[in-house]
Amino acid sequence: MSDFRTDGQAALDWAADYLERVGELPVLAQVSPGDIRARLPRTAPDEPEPFAELLRDLDEIILPGVTHWQHPRFFAYFATSASEPGILAELLAATLNSVAFLWRTAPAATELEGVVMDWVADLLGLPAGWHGHIEDTASTSTFAACIAAREATGRDLIVCSEQAHSAADKAARMLGMRLRKVPVDSEFRMRADAVGDLSDAAIVVATVGTTATTSVDAVGEIADLCEASGTWLHVDAAYAGAAMVCPEFRWAFEGVERADSVVVNAHKWMLTPMDCSLLWSRRPEDLRRAFSVVPEFLRTPNAEDAWSLSEYGPALGRRFRALKLWAVLRCHGRSGLQRHIRSGVELATQFEGWVGETEGWEVCAPRHFSTVCFRLEGEDERNRALLERVNASGEMFISQCVLNGRYVLRLAIGQMSTTENDVRRGWDVLVRESALV
Ligand SMILES: Cc1ncc(COP(=O)(O)O)c(C=O)c1O
Repeated sequence: MSDFRTDGQAALDWAADYLERVGELPVLAQVSPGDIRARLPRTAPDEPEPFAELLRDLDEIILPGVTHWQHPRFFAYFATSASEPGILAELLAATLNSVAFLWRTAPAATELEGVVMDWVADLLGLPAGWHGHIEDTASTSTFAACIAAREATGRDLIVCSEQAHSAADKAARMLGMRLRKVPVDSEFRMRADAVGDLSDAAIVVATVGTTATTSVDAVGEIADLCEASGTWLHVDAAYAGAAMVCPEFRWAFEGVERADSVVVNAHKWMLTPMDCSLLWSRRPEDLRRAFSVVPEFLRTPNAEDAWSLSEYGPALGRRFRALKLWAVLRCHGRSGLQRHIRSGVELATQFEGWVGETEGWEVCAPRHFSTVCFRLEGEDERNRALLERVNASGEMFISQCVLNGRYVLRLAIGQMSTTENDVRRGWDVLVRESALV
């Protein structure tokens, strides 16, 4: 049998080496669909193999097929940093292998989850006393909010803006609920004056930091409409919520204290490895009514009942996700999280400046946080070709969106290791490749 300490040391060395050299690897995997599968055996081995062989294959077979989310020039979608305390805590969580569906199956995991949710609520300026638990993703968190809202209101309509994340579309489809999309204003915010009649709406999903442009819906105004019509207000702050650790960004959370539920992804801009989606609600009893199914084998004494976090969301088996968040919060502290957010915003501001002052380029949306929407003036086709070229170069990875019918490029900063040199190099690559399209 393999030696846990020797293999463990080798795995840790592998991880440390990887983090040191990831910046030299091509960001976007340079493989075609099926390449990795073709290099792997068709069946599992009959006999045990040494762990060292797995590490060898990790280098030789798997690594070429990895798109490096930990790369300092990963600028696509919303970048995410798995910082070192979070990585180590994942090892420890797997070691404990707690399954936190009842309090008694994992008392510490259950109680720590409540504590870290309170800590983060405090860091982000959310009201004290909200119930918080951790889901895998924002898609699941929003899905859970929609189910609770349907249960609480007896209605079947989801309302969100045209710029809301497709998680709302997916929730509507999975739940057989109707979906109404509200037009946005010139800054891509939900038009409160166009929300319309909410008397049959179960839930409005407002967004603080939309996926394409990071626009911020007027949550306070939307809260007025929801209050008047008895509609659940869910705030999707999956990306931008983390920025609220800095007081200067709190303007974006104005009115959020009136929401019925709020989601922030710690696995986006809060240095926590995937997956860790934080869902708070001021109406936990509605979540519980929607999700609580307690067959005999899950019955526990009354005093334990309220602690069973599986009664507040879709999953029964729940990972010890709170451990990595605890590690991140303790080892970075408020000041470390603030430094990370401010550095991302500062770098994005610089990039926005370079685009804005260069002829032939345009900034396409207001930049609130660490994401810049921009394009080459002129044809969509040139921009599409440019995106393909810069991503194929392996030097950086960006993504795209469509705004006002035009193809737009997005550069989102969120990696802990990203420096000014990386953003400068990204801009140089864009300028260099733009001459060739
Ligand atoms: C605003 C917003 N909401 C929700 C999501 C979905 O997040 P997840 O991948 O955790 O489901 C994203 C993803 O980028 C997002 O930007």
